[in-house]
Amino acid sequence: MTLSHEDSVRLFRSSAPYINAHRGKTFVIMFGGEAVLDANFGRLIQDIALLHSLGMRIIITHGARPQIDERLQLRGLQGRFVDGLRVTNKATLECVKDAAGSLRSQIEALLTLGLPNSPMHGARIRVCSGNLVIAKPIGVRNGIDFEHTGLVRRIDVEGIQDQLEDGSIVLLSPMGYSPTGEVFNLSHEDVATQAAIALGADKLITLSEFDGLYKVDDQRNEKFIRTIELNALRSLVDSGQVLAESTCLTAMMATVDAGIERAHCVSYKDNGTLLKELFTRDGDGTLVMQNHYEQLRGASIDDVGGILNLIRPLEESGALVKRSRELLESEIEQFTVIERDGMIIACAALYIFPEDASGEIACVATHRDYRGQNRGERLLAALKNKAILYQLKRIFVLTTVTGHWFLEQGFDEQSVDMLPSSKKQMYNYTRNSKVYMLNLDS
Ligand code: ARG
Repeated sequence: MTLSHEDSVRLFRSSAPYINAHRGKTFVIMFGGEAVLDANFGRLIQDIALLHSLGMRIIITHGARPQIDERLQLRGLQGRFVDGLRVTNKATLECVKDAAGSLRSQIEALLTLGLPNSPMHGARIRVCSGNLVIAKPIGVRNGIDFEHTGLVRRIDVEGIQDQLEDGSIVLLSPMGYSPTGEVFNLSHEDVATQAAIALGADKLITLSEFDGLYKVDDQRNEKFIRTIELNALRSLVDSGQVLAESTCLTAMMATVDAGIERAHCVSYKDNGTLLKELFTRDGDGTLVMQNHYEQLRGASIDDVGGILNLIRPLEESGALVKRSRELLESEIEQFTVIERDGMIIACAALYIFPEDASGEIACVATHRDYRGQNRGERLLAALKNKAILYQLKRIFVLTTVTGHWFLEQGFDEQSVDMLPSSKKQMYNYTRNSKVYMLNLDS
């Protein structure tokens, strides 16, 4: 697909805020050994290198399950799992070390390739790995001795920070060492989760066979989850309504629960999904977050620029009356906005006419990319509540183009005479707007 001139310019402009926002931020990226076997893996690593070159602090954690299984098989050994956890005896531990070591060099080699076809080609990327994860044995559970299977005991935060500070990518294998000099087999999701928490990372990014998380309803229909708050996800999980790669789901929930702002899940199979997730507003995978991604709230003086950007095209087309920045600044208290990840995507204002116990709804606008999803209705509901709070008896609107929408919302068309007298004096006959009203006393 070739982008038109306009599209590529728009794409670059819209990704720039994220390039700036992500610079200097710490991202823990986790994937299982399956991802390494995928045809897209080389490109994925190149995209991770690109993030590094844009100034993101990157920690990669990888798994090795299929590679360990392959080695066990070659040696005629049987892998043993209890409750989804591998029991690591001495012979298995050799396979773990072998598999993890070889994966590590494979990833390091790919990162050494640099960034082909880019001005960054030839830029040297340093990768650091080592004894950065301290482990403890799982021990005996329900009578089963897990032997060399361990859990993360501590992450060498200082060691990792030093390497990141130095400009290296940090690579953590699913192995850890104990202060007594033993080696333990760890699950990569445990390493990723504990590293993200200990480092206070800004994001955990999990790479999955699927393109994210799905919600499954009673009829077994699957619906993709683009963004979800932790609490909502938790209740879906509790009622068995989530379809996801379990390692990704567990790690995402544990990190967000521990205070990491955002955890993402994207496919390792599709070309470019990681970049699309990070550098577009709507992403490409699933985002789990603590706080509201989209927030309806009263406007403040800081929103003036965002509101102007939003309403300008509508003013130019004549759908809205022109407002100057000064006017907007003085009237900002009257505005309610919907903010989506830092951008104002919808707004509406309520002007109060106390002498008439009525209020005018004005300047209702939704960004063209976000129309048709009930945002206007949500804003109207919020303004209605505000009007009720001010004990207003009715709200009205003057419009030339969106009358039908207000009729659908329960407004009735009225004559200009019904307007509060101060509004009537200002009524612009050349504009010839129609008047719609809604009584609130019912
Ligand atoms: N690019 C932004 C970020 O990195 C937003 C991603 C939104 N993704 C989503 N699946 N809703 O945080």
